[in-house]
Amino acid sequence: MLVTNVGHCHPRYVEAVKAQCDKLFNCYDFVTEPRAELAKKLVEITPDHIDKAFLVTTGTDATEAAIRMTRRVSPGYEIIGFDGAFHGRTYGAASAGGMMGSKAGYGPMTPGFLHAPFPYLYRAPICQGKTEEEASQACLEYLDWVVDRQSAGALCGVITEPYQGGAGGIIPPKSWMEGLYKWCKDRGLIFILDEVQSSFGRTGKMFCMEHWDIKPDLVTLGKGLGSGIPCSAVVGTSEIMDALPAGSMGSTNGGNPISSIAALTAIEIIEDEGLVENAAKMGDLFEARFKAIQERMPQLGDIRVMGLMGGLEFVTDPETREPAPDLTRAITEEALKRGLIMIAPIGLFKNVIRVAPPLVITEAEAKETLDIFEEAMEAAVAKM
Ligand SMILES: Cc1ncc(COP(=O)(O)O)c(C=O)c1O
Repeated sequence: MLVTNVGHCHPRYVEAVKAQCDKLFNCYDFVTEPRAELAKKLVEITPDHIDKAFLVTTGTDATEAAIRMTRRVSPGYEIIGFDGAFHGRTYGAASAGGMMGSKAGYGPMTPGFLHAPFPYLYRAPICQGKTEEEASQACLEYLDWVVDRQSAGALCGVITEPYQGGAGGIIPPKSWMEGLYKWCKDRGLIFILDEVQSSFGRTGKMFCMEHWDIKPDLVTLGKGLGSGIPCSAVVGTSEIMDALPAGSMGSTNGGNPISSIAALTAIEIIEDEGLVENAAKMGDLFEARFKAIQERMPQLGDIRVMGLMGGLEFVTDPETREPAPDLTRAITEEALKRGLIMIAPIGLFKNVIRVAPPLVITEAEAKETLDIFEEAMEAAVAKM
């Protein structure tokens, strides 16, 4: 889920990885052909302003690397993150994030991170009673308040997910994302976009940033990049990457030939099999059916879909919007009984089901998935 983008054991992928195993596993500091080819490919498929790539292993590594790069090339050190954000579990990444589950019980976080509200339209207090545009504007205006109240005058960057995955698949308004980018650029700050989850076709575009008029300085990639074999990256502008002192970034396993070949092949499969287009098309099918289900069962309180990324938020009553974690878990259990694996509930209130099938899902498979989901929801609602 969110990782095996080209499906489990795609023959072309398996063959390419096996062939690389006969040649070379790791070359640490040396440039190998697969590493160079992958870096080149990433620069080729990302928007034009991006022209450098640094390869690591996990999404968290990519977050840490982006934070290090931002601080290394800036006079300041403070970075603004968002409530509900998830960027990884190391101390730097968890500190940048806004999920208490990654922080509580682990002692002090690292200093130098400020936090602002994310436009969680359905639930964030700052968004209630407002139209989407008003909520977006209120969140943007709050940024200055955050800086006034929390900053020691050493700001250098902003980090955000394009949509918040772990917090419940929360998709921000376009005006917020573009407004945040502008706010950041007006202040000379580095804009880091965490596309660890949202990249490689997931949202119906190769990269989620392509939905908006923004040019992030650094973009983190992971999860589906290797489509099963660990591989992650930071891609960015040469303005930042070339300003880093030689040897300041490095990784023992980052860019190893096996993961590089896996990632390269997965990208080629995504391109050759039209999987980005498939994600957009299947996403429309999922969204339409979820809306029909919601008409019959209003306990499906909020539907958030972007390509093949979905967050379904369940409530006991659509008026009060009281979170329904028991119903949510019961739906996943009923689905499992019927042969559909849905990951354990996510979201800030554990009342969201994540929808993130492999990008290779066919129309027939999507319909079967939706039939089982609807049946499972009916059964769970009847039990409550
Ligand atoms: C948006 C985002 N950033 C970073 C990470 C961390 O990636 P990893 O678990 O590979 O370290 C994740 C993982 O869920 C994620 O969704």
